[in-house]
Amino acid sequence: NSYSGIAAASTGFVLNNNALIISGALVGASGLILTNIMCKGMNRSLANVIFGAVGLDQGPSPDGEAKQINIKSYSTEEAAMIFDAAEKIIVVPGYGLAVAQAQHAVREVADFLSKKGKTVLYAIHPVAGRMPGHMNVLLAEANIPYDQLKDLDEVNNEFEDCDVALVIGANDTVNPAARTGEGPLGGMPIIDADKAGVVVIIKRSLSVGYAGVDNDLFYEDKTMMLFGDGKKMMAELNSALKEL
Ligand code: TAP
Repeated sequence: NSYSGIAAASTGFVLNNNALIISGALVGASGLILTNIMCKGMNRSLANVIFGAVGLDQGPSPDGEAKQINIKSYSTEEAAMIFDAAEKIIVVPGYGLAVAQAQHAVREVADFLSKKGKTVLYAIHPVAGRMPGHMNVLLAEANIPYDQLKDLDEVNNEFEDCDVALVIGANDTVNPAARTGEGPLGGMPIIDADKAGVVVIIKRSLSVGYAGVDNDLFYEDKTMMLFGDGKKMMAELNSALKEL
């Protein structure tokens, strides 16, 4: 965004067009502010964000194929039984929630669980999605109460006594590889979804997220993979919960 603004402002100077200079400068400056927020969320410098991927091997991890053999796919009926037994559930939304437009379906499941007396919270990573505040906007669109949305620093303590983490369309922001301090995600603070009793992950495949890093959370014993489109899977989960 910032580059496009700077390019527009530069073109404005060449064409001697004040409107282009002013609008380009505004877009460039707002893009820089968003970039700064992103850099803080990822715990990286601007130079590292721009040049960090230069020279890195972007191919799949060498042991990726061997791990996929151990993956077990679960049904929404099986997941519904886990939710039925849980007391505290934390929803971790990511870019896939936005792609699937699953926010309303998530709200329906959360409402059902809340009515059954369960605590439902939402863990919002500062760079979840593709722009700052992406998840807040989507969840607000579905009228999810603001006091249930918790920032990274606020929510990570909540996972110690959390029965189920429902990760929907998130990948990099819950990837424990970030804790190693190496690779494209190295040093980025993550949502501690892996500390919950059970981790239910909804995504379509085992493919990587934006950073291109394989996620070991998919292969943990406590993880239940529900493969499918976010909206479809949430609708199925909703029906399965009501049938219990
Ligand atoms: P990502 O790591 O990008 O992962 C999103 C996941 O969503 C993918 O692995 C994909 O897996 C899944 N997905 C896609 N479509 C789906 C669908 N219809 N239904 C269900 N799942 C779907 O997401 P994240 O955890 O939100 O992390 C964001 C990443 O973007 C970070 O690396 C961040 O640095 C970067 N980034 C953020 C921003 C800002 S400011 N937010 C800006 C630029 C870049 P499948 O294909 O297997 O379904």
